[in-house]
Amino acid sequence: MINISINGKPYSYEEELTIYHAAKEAGIWIPTLCYNEKLKPYGGCRVCLVEVTGKPVLVPSCATNITEGMEIVTDSDRVKGGRQFIIELLLARTPGAKEIQELAKKFGVDPTGDSAQGSVSTYLLKRAEPPFETTCILCGLCVRVCAEVTERHALSYEDRGMKRRITPPFSKVADTCIGCGSCAYVCPTNCITIEEA
Ligand code: FES
Repeated sequence: MINISINGKPYSYEEELTIYHAAKEAGIWIPTLCYNEKLKPYGGCRVCLVEVTGKPVLVPSCATNITEGMEIVTDSDRVKGGRQFIIELLLARTPGAKEIQELAKKFGVDPTGDSAQGSVSTYLLKRAEPPFETTCILCGLCVRVCAEVTERHALSYEDRGMKRRITPPFSKVADTCIGCGSCAYVCPTNCITIEEA
């Protein structure tokens, strides 16, 4: 049995779970974007951050397991601030993504990036040239499902920094793609559409 506390309340679990799953079982909502039950969590988007007593930094709940005596906080100002910061960065990249706008509203972040907390996203938006038109948050779920589940390797990353994007290898339609649609299925911002070649 693993005994922990979440937001000051005690909980016991028979098996080792991630913080995200333990909170879910306790009826506590934690936002996620890059997490999918079919894939091993890798803590890419950081929107699921929580506070763990004794840890100097916020940790991604989808990629951190509970341990005996762990004290977890999911609703503090620090957690809220950490998630707001991540959402601002995501908004800066994908101002048109409805899913990110919804998260922004939930966490009190101005979807236009003009709020007091919006300084980072505003800065990045001004730097972005040309403005991003994608709704891809570069979480990599599509690349990973294509490699790890369907084993087709028909998608990969290209370029770096602000120009980073996801594309078939060498930007050509990949022979290995079987059109299964699993990339579109896992995409948290619905930015992939499947078309006839
Ligand atoms: S959902 Fe946990 S890091 Fe993205």
